Parts: sequence; C-alpha cells; structure tokens
Amino acid sequence: MHLAIIMDGNGRWAKKRGLKRVEGHKKGAEVVKEITAYCANSPEIKILTLYAFSTENWKRPKMETDFLMKLLENWLKKELETYIKNDVKFEVIGDISKFFPKLRKRIEYTKETTKNNKRLTQVLALNYGGRDEITRAVKKIIKKNEEITQENIQKNLDINEDVDLLIRTSGEIRVSNFLLWQIAYAEMFFTPTLWPDFTSRELEQILNNFKKRQRRFGGI
Ligand code: IPE
Ligand code: IPE
Ligand code: MG
Repeated sequence: MHLAIIMDGNGRWAKKRGLKRVEGHKKGAEVVKEITAYCANSPEIKILTLYAFSTENWKRPKMETDFLMKLLENWLKKELETYIKNDVKFEVIGDISKFFPKLRKRIEYTKETTKNNKRLTQVLALNYGGRDEITRAVKKIIKKNEEITQENIQKNLDINEDVDLLIRTSGEIRVSNFLLWQIAYAEMFFTPTLWPDFTSRELEQILNNFKKRQRRFGGI
C-alpha cells in the first residue's frame, strides 16, 4: 500500500514548550526516522510519501526556510546509514531545480546510493505542490506531442501510484495542495497529535482502523 503523511504541527509543538519553531522541525525529523523504520518493517506498506516542504512554504521567513534546507541536507548525510540498514530506497517529488547545488547533490547522492533497496520506498515531497505537479505533467505531454488522457497524465506525474491512506497530523482538516491527483480515492485520517508527538504506536492504530474500512471506488 501507499501511505502518505502530511507532517504538520512542528511549530505549534515548539511554541507550546516555549521553544523556537525550528526546535519543532528538529524533533519532527526524529519522528520521520521512527515512522520510516516502522514502515520498512511493515510487510504491507510499500511506499511512504512524506510532505516535508510545500510550494507555499516559501512564504515563511527566510530564516525558517534556510533552516529547513540545512536540516534536510544534514539529515540526509547523517541518515544515509539508516536508509541502507533498513533497506529503504529514497526518492523525491516536487521541483527541486532551484534548491542550492550542495543540497541537490546530496539528494542525488542519496537517491543513487539507495536505488536498489527493496523493503520500502520513502518519498520526500520537497518544494512540492499538487497543482504544480499536474501542471508540469501536462507540459511534459504537450512537449512530447502526446495525447492528453487520464492515464498519460498519471504517467507523467512525479509519482504515479495512487494513495491508499492519507494521514494528517496537528488537527488541521485540509490537504494543503498535497498529492491532489493521487488521493482521488484515498482513505483519510486526521489526528490532533502534533507531528513531533506522533509515534509508530499511533500509526499502528490508524492502520488497524484503515483495514476495517470498506473501499468501494464508486462501485457497490
Ligand atoms: C510542518 O509543521 C512542517 C513544515 C511545514 C515544514 P509546521 O511548521 O507547519 O508547524 P505548524 O503548523 O506551524 O505548527
Ligand atoms: C503542509 O503544512 C505542508 C507540509 C506539512 C510540508 P502547512 O503548515 O504548510 O499547511 P497550512 O498552511 O496549514 O495549510
Ligand atoms: Mg503547519
């Protein structure tokens, strides 16, 4: 199955503790590690897509966006071992063409080094927006002079697999431009837990709830 998570609430988690917002992002990165390890050990989860930075997140103060880019670079460096140990393949969706070159290199290196890993594919959504993704897909099709069909649009997206379960933390009940095409028939789960407080235990409970749902895809 394809599990997608909107990791939200880092800033509020930090504020509640009288800390700076960036401390919430640091704690949030640790949770990514725990949840990814859990998913790598779960036989049914094949893809884990995590919303890490949206096309709209550039509206934040430069200090915060700079911090997030640096955090990502250091994290990929530090966690390469973990990707290898857990047999996790790393991929990216979104438009990273304007990221600073050192970060882009680090992303490419992590992708290349983990490309044959099999247990789980972890996809990070970076400078990602669902509308941007669909627009870029349609542009690619026009450039190739191909026919515009649903199948062809799906094929030209950054990620082709439909989402089975979408989780958002932090109590917000919205999708904020995440995987708009791929969530057409996703089951959704919204939890008030802030991302830095999210645990694999809670994920397990959500997965149990998901298994009990009857998906109809328009049928009866
Ligand atoms: C999610 O947490 C992480 C990113 C968007 C990078 P937020 O930073 O949005 O935290 P809140 O929503 O302000 O609490
Ligand atoms: C969505 O969270 C983006 C990520 C989790 C990376 P936001 O915090 O940016 O979303 P809004 O602004 O509350 O909708
Ligand atoms: Mg938020």
